[in-house]
Amino acid sequence: MVNIQLFLSEKIKQALVDAGVHSECKAKVQQSTKKKFGNYQFNGVMEIAKRLGLPSIKLALKVVDLLALDGIACKIEIAGPGFINIFLEPHWLEDNLIAAISSPRLGISRSEPQTIVVDYSAPNVAKEMHVGHMRSTIIGDVSVRTLTFLGHNVIRANHIGDWGTQFGMLIAYLENIKDNCDIKLLNLENFYRAAKLQYDKDPIFAKRAREYVVKLQVGDEYYLQMWRKIVDITIIQNQKIYDLLNVTLTSADIMGESMYNKMLPNIVEDLQKKGLAVESEGSIIVFLNEFKNKKGNPMGVILKKKDGAYLYTTNDIACAKYRYEKLKADRIIYYIDSRQHQHLMQAWTIVRKAGYVPESIPIEHHMFGMMLGKDGKPFKTRDGGTVKLTKLLSEAILRARSIILAKNPDINTEYLDRLSRVLGIGAVKYADLSKNRITDYVFDWDKMLTFEGNTAPYMQYAYTRIVSIFKRSGQDEQQIQLNGNFKLKSEQEIQLAVRILQLKETILIVAKEGTPHVLCAYLYNLSVLFSAFYETCPILNAENETLRQSRLKLALITARTIKQGLELLGIETVEIM
Ligand code: ARG
Repeated sequence: MVNIQLFLSEKIKQALVDAGVHSECKAKVQQSTKKKFGNYQFNGVMEIAKRLGLPSIKLALKVVDLLALDGIACKIEIAGPGFINIFLEPHWLEDNLIAAISSPRLGISRSEPQTIVVDYSAPNVAKEMHVGHMRSTIIGDVSVRTLTFLGHNVIRANHIGDWGTQFGMLIAYLENIKDNCDIKLLNLENFYRAAKLQYDKDPIFAKRAREYVVKLQVGDEYYLQMWRKIVDITIIQNQKIYDLLNVTLTSADIMGESMYNKMLPNIVEDLQKKGLAVESEGSIIVFLNEFKNKKGNPMGVILKKKDGAYLYTTNDIACAKYRYEKLKADRIIYYIDSRQHQHLMQAWTIVRKAGYVPESIPIEHHMFGMMLGKDGKPFKTRDGGTVKLTKLLSEAILRARSIILAKNPDINTEYLDRLSRVLGIGAVKYADLSKNRITDYVFDWDKMLTFEGNTAPYMQYAYTRIVSIFKRSGQDEQQIQLNGNFKLKSEQEIQLAVRILQLKETILIVAKEGTPHVLCAYLYNLSVLFSAFYETCPILNAENETLRQSRLKLALITARTIKQGLELLGIETVEIM
C-alpha cells in the first residue's frame, strides 16, 4: 500500500525545489478536512513565500505548474492565498486498491526493523490489579501490536513492582498462614492488608519482618523462595486478567524491578566516580540543574539512602541502561501515567549525562491521564476504594450480556457467553483507546455500550453488517477478491477508497506516537463512509455486473481493513451478531 501522504509530500517537495525553493523546506501535505478541499492539502506555500519575499499566489501557481501528478491527481486547485488542494484520480485509486486487496496484510510493507522495548502494564506484586493499571496495559499493548505488525523486533517489558521493604512483612505473614490455606487461591488484597495490620499492631512480628528484609536483600535462599512464591501467585492471577483483556503479555515478558538489584551498587559507584553523584549526610545524591526545588536550587535526586536502600529512580536508571546495553534497544518506550513524568525525566537526565544510553536512542514517555468517574473525580468504588480490574471486567461482561439478551432472547447460551465477552471487554477497551491518552477521561458505562457513535459495539456491528452483505452475494471471499476490478463511479465510492488507502499512514502515526485514538477515529470514519456508500450505491443490485463486482470488492476490503484495525487495537470481532 502506498503511503499517500508521504508520496504526495515528496512530489510537492520536488516541485518546490524545481521552483527554486531551498530543499530543506517543509513540504508535508495533510489529509483535507473538508471534501471541497480535495483529498490532500498543502498549506505550506504561504510560509515559504513570506520567507522568500514572494507573493504566495505566484509561488503556488508555479508549484502547481511543476507538480508531477499526471495520472495521480485528477484536479489540483489553489484556494485562498495559496492553499494547494489535491483531488486524487479514481483510476490511480483503483490500481492501489487492487494491489491492496490482492496481497496479505492489505499490502502494508514492513518497516526497517528496529529493536523496540515497550515498558507497560507493570502492576505491583501482592496487590490486585486495579483500574490504574488498565490504561498502561491496553494502550501499551496496541503499541506492541502495531510495532510488531510493522516488522519490528518488539520486546515487551512488564516492569512489575516486585521488590521493596514490604516483602519482609509479606514473607513473615506468609509463614504464619501457609499451613492453613491454599496459597494459590490467596486473595492478594486481603493478604496484604492482613500482613500490614499485623505489622502495625504486633512489635514482635514487625521485628521479624525487618530481619527478613535484610535476609532477602543478602540473597538468603529460603527467603528468596518465599518471595518467589508471592511473586508467582501474583503473576498467575494477573495473567488471567491479561487473557481476559486479550492482551498479548505472558509470564515470559516479566522483567520486574528486582532484575536490576545487582546492577545498583556499581551504578551508584560509577555515578560518584563520574562526579555526578555526591555524598550528602550519609545518602548518595545527584543534584540536577535542570530541575529546581521549591527554593529554586538544583533538585537533589536520592540514589541511595542512609540505611543503604536504593530508590525507584536508581532502579529506573539501571533499567534504561540494561535495555540499551543488554537488550540492544534502538528505541525505548514507557507507558506510565503522567504523574510519574518528573521521576522519569530525572532518571533519564542522569542516564544521558552518565552516557548510559546515547542521545541517538530515543527514550520516550508515552504518558496518559486518569480514568474519572461521572462526577469528574478519580474513578473509585462507592466507598472510595480503588476499583479492582476483575470486578470492572466482570461487570462489563454482565452488562453486555443483558443488552444482548434484550435484543435477542433466544440466543444459544454458548454464543451468548462468547458474545458477552467480546462486546463487554471490547467496549471497555475501546472507550479508553478512543480517547487521546494525554488527558483524563470519564468512564461511562452507558456511552461505551451503545451501538451508536465511536464505540466498540458500533465498530463490531459495522463489521458484521459488511460481512453479511458480501456473504449474500453467492461468491466466497476468494472469488470476490479475484473477480473483476474496481470501478469508482460515485463520490461516495471515491471517498471510501481514499479512506481505505489511508490505513498505512494511520498505522504509522500510531507506531510513532503511541496514540491508538488515531486508529479508532480512522476506523470510525471509515465505517461512516461505508454507510454513506451503502445508502447511495446498491451493491447486490448494482446497475451492471462491473459495478456489482467493484462494490463487492469495496465491501470486502473495507471489512478486512476494519478487522485488521481492530486486531491492532486488541479488539475481537465476530461474524454474526
Ligand atoms: N509499578 C509501577 C507502578 O505501579 C510502574 C512501573 C513502570 N515502569 C517503570 N520502568 N518505572 O506505579
